[in-house]
Amino acid sequence: MSTSPALTAPFGVLAQVADATQLGEGEAGVLRVLRALAGPDRRAAGEISRFARLPVPVASAVLGELRTLGVVDGLRPAGLTADGRALVATLGLRPLTYAVDPWSAPLSPDLVAVAGALDALVGQQPDVDVTLDQSFATGETKVRRVLWMIAAGALPTPSLLIVGDDDLLSVAVARVGAALGVPLAGEVVVIDISAAILATIASSAPPDAAIDLIEHDVRRPLPPAARGRSCVASTDPPYTTQGAALFLARALEGLRPGPGWDAFLHYGAKPPGPAIDLQGELTRLGLVVRELRPGVNHYLGAGVIGGRSDAYRLELTAQQSAETDWEATAYDGPLYTADLRARPRTYVCAGCGERFIVGPREPIATVGALQAHGCPTCGGTSFRPGSLAPQSIPGEKA
Ligand SMILES: C[S@@+](CC[C@H](N)C(=O)[O-])C[C@H]1O[C@@H](n2cnc3c(N)ncnc32)[C@H](O)[C@@H]1O
Repeated sequence: MSTSPALTAPFGVLAQVADATQLGEGEAGVLRVLRALAGPDRRAAGEISRFARLPVPVASAVLGELRTLGVVDGLRPAGLTADGRALVATLGLRPLTYAVDPWSAPLSPDLVAVAGALDALVGQQPDVDVTLDQSFATGETKVRRVLWMIAAGALPTPSLLIVGDDDLLSVAVARVGAALGVPLAGEVVVIDISAAILATIASSAPPDAAIDLIEHDVRRPLPPAARGRSCVASTDPPYTTQGAALFLARALEGLRPGPGWDAFLHYGAKPPGPAIDLQGELTRLGLVVRELRPGVNHYLGAGVIGGRSDAYRLELTAQQSAETDWEATAYDGPLYTADLRARPRTYVCAGCGERFIVGPREPIATVGALQAHGCPTCGGTSFRPGSLAPQSIPGEKA
């Protein structure tokens, strides 16, 4: 049987079906339907709808369009044609579900062994570089992150992007896939500024794992080869709103344009002020929170985030645009916890309301010096801390 021209460009098929059905979830929604059909069993529209997180009429419309293109056959329940099987194989989709809670269910002995092996790798890593807000998650957390991505239907995927990988998620994906007997990613693209982290990944990933290691400072736009390429992203940013916004912006840059793609974020819990700042950044970037698992990430050592962080599953909305001017998104502002500590802060005189900038590189270096001088206007010695000067990440939604 000859392969239909539509199937020579797998993402062309996804785009065609998404367009024809005006699917709000875009190519990502079509990919989820194909993933539901990737197994040996035929599936009813209701089952596909649950698996693909689409309402039944929407899943049925997608199936109808896939039938028109010769990807799905004419029988009920639905099954793939030979061309459909070829398409699914090209995209590296496999039927895989994880039906129990990935963050709390006991791990199988195979996965416990993977977690142990990942813990052992930490001994071979260079020490954490605190100036880059590095901090290593436990092996069990690494395994559970992968299981969560499977449970969410984000893995297996044609292409996974990881922005910042001192947790060696790329290695965990390969090893969990091997333990489950199912390859989880056609390719993994890792972006990290640290040559040492990339070297650890290169030396500890299974030889057949397709991992593209890119040494890059995300203050700058991604190299063109990494742009618009992946179908799911994961990131562990520095522990600042600026860091989260910048790393997420780069994750979006690496994802295929259009809505529906999943982005996983691991980030320490914050007090209400910075928490609402993060929420604002997510909205600005066009990301909606689909799941938030508080404190599920466990780290070795206490560190800045107290040994725990939250896990977010975010979904890209239609706001993401292929027309983004990425070159305008270079960022040179404060990024890491230490950068913010060094930033000046405004202090307000409790007596007269006069404002003073206090910071290590300012004429008034500390609040102690300000109190010792007294307020030049009213002589008062009591000052209230104000907020840090606002910093903005140049965004792709300007
Ligand atoms: C910011 S650290 C935080 C990680 C920690 N494991 C966590 O879960 O919170 C994550 C990774 O980002 C990398 N990184 C830090 N600054 C970067 C930059 N400007 N560009 C690219 N990668 C960076 C670090 O080398 C590290 O591997």
